[in-house]
Amino acid sequence: MSSSNNPSNGSSLTSPRVVSGIRTTGALHLGNYHGALKNWVNLQSKYECFFFAADWHALTTEYEHTERIAQYTSEMILDWLGAGLDPKHCTFFVQSHVLEHAELQLLLGMLTPLSWLERVPSYKELRSKLKEKHLATYGFLGYPVLQSADILMYKPEFVPVGEDQVSHIELTREIARHFNHLYEGRLQKPLFPEPKALLTETAKMPGLDGQKMSKSYHNTIGLREDPKSVTHKIKTMPTDPARVRRTDPGEPEKCPVWRFHQVYSSKETQAWVQQGCRTAGIGCLECKKPVIDAVLEEQTVIIQRAEPYVKNPDLVQDIVKEGCKVARQAAGKTLAEVREVMGLLEA
Ligand code: TRP
Ligand code: SF4
Repeated sequence: MSSSNNPSNGSSLTSPRVVSGIRTTGALHLGNYHGALKNWVNLQSKYECFFFAADWHALTTEYEHTERIAQYTSEMILDWLGAGLDPKHCTFFVQSHVLEHAELQLLLGMLTPLSWLERVPSYKELRSKLKEKHLATYGFLGYPVLQSADILMYKPEFVPVGEDQVSHIELTREIARHFNHLYEGRLQKPLFPEPKALLTETAKMPGLDGQKMSKSYHNTIGLREDPKSVTHKIKTMPTDPARVRRTDPGEPEKCPVWRFHQVYSSKETQAWVQQGCRTAGIGCLECKKPVIDAVLEEQTVIIQRAEPYVKNPDLVQDIVKEGCKVARQAAGKTLAEVREVMGLLEA
């Protein structure tokens, strides 16, 4: 588990780094799996990866409701292990356990113009959408500075994220450039390379209602949700409203179940759906059966892989501790450089 006994780490000196995080605001769902996690699992064998549970970022919006943040954090680590992230091949850690992130946020905050933060689209949007959450806070405005610190800390080449995060990566690059330029005189070469967003292909995974799968739309299937509950959710999910009676033909394009078939079914099954739906040859429950089977099969693997860790929380704690240690080490190196360049007295 430690980097020293990691055989693949021999190449880590040369393989470029990747950093990404997920906010701990709820149990991970199939949207997160198909949108981010599966991609991370692929990346772990090609790059030196740092993945973290962004619990401070969760607090930026959830500071009034903190009851379950710790639980979400441990559940998320279990989800990662279940999905196939392997602590032998990547480093995973908890953001709030690597205090260096806070220090770098503070230091980068010194040079980040307010106007850059105020124009970040997610800031403007969320603030008006989530009025009831009182987001006119220093912490929420600073969200992208913290994210920049998370990223620049590890000087990664790539940051795998969804489309919604592109403006944050763009800001990270601006902060890096600004820093490098400000302290040009003290630097042999730019201290922070500009990281690139590695766009996760737009999530094909729809929610139960056909909208994007998202916790705030209440249309999710949990990554390790109980099979009975998953079956019930799919059985009761809406279909093409034109199919009132079993004998009414339907149109797959108007049905969220079809979107699931596009993710989960073979070409043959898809042809069976298209034909059967349009001719009323099959019923909706019949049509949902292969989807239910495929989702449960996918989840069985994830649940089984997570099981030993669910049974033995000490194992998880060790993994996180070890990951934090590795992260702290890398972070410490960057911070020593930053402190020096910013003219602070050596400790
Ligand atoms: N803001 C990201 C999101 O909401 C989470 C995040 C925090 C992140 N720090 C990061 C993602 C650093 C990539 C890199 O999804
Ligand atoms: Fe949707 Fe399938 Fe029913 Fe057609 S048959 S409406 S695709 S669930």
